[in-house]
Amino acid sequence: MRILFPASEVEPFSKTGGLADVAGALPVALASRGHEVRVVTPLYRTVPRAGLTQTARAFTLQFPFGEVPVRTWETTVAERVTVVFLDVPSMFDREQLYGDARGDYPDNARRFAVLSMAALTDAQAAGFVPDVLHGHDWQTGLAPLALRRGYARAFPHTRSVLTIHNLAYQGGFPKSALPELGLPWSDFVPGGVEFWDHLSMLKCGIVFADAVTTVSPTYAREITSPQGGMGLDGVLRAKQGGVVGIVNGIDTTEWNPATDVYLPARFSDADLAGRAVCRQRLLEELRLQPPAEGMPLFGVIGRMVEQKGADLLHAALPVFLEHGAAVVVLGAGSAALQQGWKTLAARYPLRVSVRFGYDTGLAHLIEAGSDFFLMPSRFEPCGLNQLYSQRYGAVPVVHAVGGLADTVTDLRGGDGTGITFLGATVDAVQGALARALELYLSPQAYAEVQRRGMRRDFSWARSAAAYEAVYAQGAR
Ligand code: ADP
Ligand code: GLC
Repeated sequence: MRILFPASEVEPFSKTGGLADVAGALPVALASRGHEVRVVTPLYRTVPRAGLTQTARAFTLQFPFGEVPVRTWETTVAERVTVVFLDVPSMFDREQLYGDARGDYPDNARRFAVLSMAALTDAQAAGFVPDVLHGHDWQTGLAPLALRRGYARAFPHTRSVLTIHNLAYQGGFPKSALPELGLPWSDFVPGGVEFWDHLSMLKCGIVFADAVTTVSPTYAREITSPQGGMGLDGVLRAKQGGVVGIVNGIDTTEWNPATDVYLPARFSDADLAGRAVCRQRLLEELRLQPPAEGMPLFGVIGRMVEQKGADLLHAALPVFLEHGAAVVVLGAGSAALQQGWKTLAARYPLRVSVRFGYDTGLAHLIEAGSDFFLMPSRFEPCGLNQLYSQRYGAVPVVHAVGGLADTVTDLRGGDGTGITFLGATVDAVQGALARALELYLSPQAYAEVQRRGMRRDFSWARSAAAYEAVYAQGAR
């Protein structure tokens, strides 16, 4: 099959979160099953230019708000995987991907309308006729609509699939965006793109895509229920074929403790000795005192947003720190949540280390060196860090929701790979941390849990096959 794959962030070119990991790895997994994938993404300022070639395809998109000249660059990341970059300096040559300290960029509706339209126009210019248009999140929400309208003649047999990576980001814009983007008011209806008197790009994608998927079966159930649907559960339930949940894989080349170039020592499930070296390095690098005898080092990595439950950790951790546990934190985001960590670090300077910013090497070292990985997310569509941590022997402690519930098995069953808890409350988190301490006191039991996690198969192959089945369903 030929798959057109617009995405607003793609590893290793641009990234704010897990979407980039998926858009980087899934196309390669699909290509290794024989498909041809064309990823289309903005040429942000941060994209390294080395290895990109400018193409002869340049075109101008016509919007009521103005003309947008687009130049394109491309590179081949694997056999049958081309990544096309949209060079529109006025829109993408900026400090960040989606916004800055003042908030989201005010022209995001236009910027991502350009992504959707340019993906289709560029494919047309290149003579790439996709069997499937596979978009991701609100940033590509207009593409399925465009495929049914302006591009229907060019691509009459192309099916569209939209994957929801996070229902919390809906791409809502004032309705004045409709005429600016050239959408007719007849679309501004509850069965169309209207959502609480705004234009919702995510809803647009949901309504007009032929199939909708999300990144875990449990999250698929959650978002089709009134409690988890964030107002869109009705639209999602109405979708023919339902919402298909497919758990993300991980890039097992980048995340392999036996070959990881970021680590001072490597290890595997057969020989965990290198882990102790990584733990030591982590403590030294972050100038932490080693945890008290028999007490663990906790690791935390992630965007600092309400979703990830950092506030629960701020309240839950002190009693464990008092007893000599330690915690390392890496993340960036909300000033208030950062402040919460700063306060904790000031109170326990030798037990708590926080790094604000983005640091791939440190992320690897935290997975390799911490004893438990904490992820008390209030909701989590899939989550990748708990997968990395299982692969690296950092036993995950997670709130049993969404993809966390689908990928971490609690120890209680005997075949556990981590600790899960129910309820996003400080009490529940403390209960789970107490269970972690108990496990840690029994080195043999702890090592068994580590090994089981490390042996789990989180490779993309299975997920790629599941996407293939969705693509094939009702192929036109
Ligand atoms: P989300 O997409 O909601 O942010 P995921 O767990 O799916 O959560 O993916 C997060 C990805 O971003 C992982 O690859 C994680 O390692 C990475 N990541 C997040 N914050 C940082 C950071 N501060 N430094 C390095 N990597 C980070
Ligand atoms: C989103 C979700 C995360 C998921 C990622 C990739 O950012 O928050 O849970 O793993 O997308 O699908």
